[in-house]
Amino acid sequence: MGDPVCSGVSRRAVLGGAGALAVVVTATGCGAGQAAKTDTSPFSVPVGDVPVGGGKVFAERGTVVTQPNAGEFHAFSAKCTHAGCTVKGIVKGQILCPCHGSSFNAADGAVISGPAEKPLAARTVTVAGAELQIS
Ligand code: FES
Repeated sequence: MGDPVCSGVSRRAVLGGAGALAVVVTATGCGAGQAAKTDTSPFSVPVGDVPVGGGKVFAERGTVVTQPNAGEFHAFSAKCTHAGCTVKGIVKGQILCPCHGSSFNAADGAVISGPAEKPLAARTVTVAGAELQIS
């Protein structure tokens, strides 16, 4: 059983014509495997894995790490606060959710556009030499 929003039917259209009735059902953009991982155990990644002005989603760790400016790192849960999909990428300072289009500020996790209403949960990121430690 998946998330009711991601696994459910989003649209239904009924088309009639010449006495015939057709039902068209379209699933949402959430596919199998998009539900976010909830592993919040500490991990580390090379600093070079997180580009300046962008970031990287570590889906297997349920975490997105950003670097809005050189040397400024942030980490957040990758679980969208709308319905739990994994955020997919960072573009122009925004962390994007592919399921329903929410976007979050890459510097503080705040909602930029919904349907999400709550910010991404912050995680702690510490620079240790050439590694980022996320806890
Ligand atoms: S799960 Fe709906 S916008 Fe992210």
